[in-house]
Amino acid sequence: MSPQSSVLSHKMDSMFAAGIDTTLPKGALYRDLAASLESVLAGETDALANLANACALLAEALARINWCGFYLLRGEELVLGPFQGKPACVRIPVGKGVCGTAAARREPLVVPDVNVFPGHIACDATSRSEIVVPILENGVLRGVLDVDSPELARFDDMDRAGLEKFVALLVPFVHWRNL
Ligand code: SME
Repeated sequence: MSPQSSVLSHKMDSMFAAGIDTTLPKGALYRDLAASLESVLAGETDALANLANACALLAEALARINWCGFYLLRGEELVLGPFQGKPACVRIPVGKGVCGTAAARREPLVVPDVNVFPGHIACDATSRSEIVVPILENGVLRGVLDVDSPELARFDDMDRAGLEKFVALLVPFVHWRNL
């Protein structure tokens, strides 16, 4: 095996070793997810690749979700970034919908029933609940992480804490201004 393919093989091994047991209790699940994220991002500086892999990890780890992904701040709009799920609306003005409201307030939003959230933007009609975590780099808004579920009240305070930690770990691995 060449030195290059040996390095690649080692990296792939460590990524697959990071497989997450989705049946774990939430505390343990989010601890494993954080460790897996660190393992997947280690040594990689490409912003788009890191966002794409972060999103794939979430899709693998979180049960009972139908969409997860990133919206990136471009001027006064959030623009669709790497995601897993059905094609979604591309542009969301800051202040609109769940994503835009979380971005404007710069705080996470847990929405147990999207149908009663004023201005909710329905990208996938099967979504019933949603969590949005703003992405802040040294206090500067860079975008949001959005996760949707077909189940009512799928997300709670432990999900909020786990996903806030996930975003905090991700932030230094992405050159947001180059995206
Ligand atoms: N429901 C979101 C829009 C994004 S999609 O769910 C992927 C909102 O109201 O902001």
